[in-house]
Amino acid sequence: MGTSTSIATQQQSDRPSAWVDLSIDDERELLFALVGNTFGDQPEQRIDAIRSSRMRFARRFVRMAGVKKQDSVLEIGSGCGFGTRLLADKAGRVAACDISPAYLAFARKECTGLHNIEFTQIRSRSLAAFDNASMDAVISISVFIHLNLYDIYWYFREINRVLKPDGRVCFDFADADKLFRRDWLQPGNAKSRAGFFSEQAEHYLDDPYRLFQLMQWNSMYGIINVGRECGLQFIRRRSDRLLFRKAT
Ligand SMILES: C[S@@+](CC[C@H](N)C(=O)[O-])C[C@H]1O[C@@H](n2cnc3c(N)ncnc32)[C@H](O)[C@@H]1O
Repeated sequence: MGTSTSIATQQQSDRPSAWVDLSIDDERELLFALVGNTFGDQPEQRIDAIRSSRMRFARRFVRMAGVKKQDSVLEIGSGCGFGTRLLADKAGRVAACDISPAYLAFARKECTGLHNIEFTQIRSRSLAAFDNASMDAVISISVFIHLNLYDIYWYFREINRVLKPDGRVCFDFADADKLFRRDWLQPGNAKSRAGFFSEQAEHYLDDPYRLFQLMQWNSMYGIINVGRECGLQFIRRRSDRLLFRKAT
């Protein structure tokens, strides 16, 4: 079997994937993968606090993307659906998608009773389930932090296709330029950031197949250039969030 065939085979089966293999029966693991250990050893006991925190975070993306009541919004990587709830309140219609059946099951339950959300399982890098020029905005929260530049390239091409003219996309990324730079850090946070990086490096050494669940450190200019290549024009940055618009 030639190299190109084996790469294609791996891409098709989409393995290994730390996200796809999570189980709906292990709520604790789902929450750890979502928020790390910020909410302690038993995050399933603190779902209300996690929900509020994720909704507050999601609000920043909604504002930055200028989501309006009549908008159709695509959310890539909806996770437990905490941000999806907020989107459903702010937009007309939400198409929420994820590669993980377990997260989708959690999110469907979380959003029970909200009738303007449709959940779809997708394959990484493909938005084939969504029509051309059907979305006013695309929002992706704490997902592109796990994507490498090739993933971002394929998502950007798909996002360009599904966005209406002048549509916006807003997401956060893991900024490699901030690593270990004290001037970029919040007071008192320097150690924990450096510690976080080496913790991720340890996970990688233990099990390289966890790579997709780890942070993927990227350059903002690299992402901006890839965006331009894919017909997305960079508008602005706020903290680690980037906003692009479909170029006309
Ligand atoms: C850290 S969680 C964030 C969930 C949610 N957006 C939030 O902010 O609470 C990452 C989510 O992205 C999903 N995900 C990971 N890689 C993805 C990919 N390549 N395409 C789409 N979703 C992905 C995971 O299954 C998981 O639900």
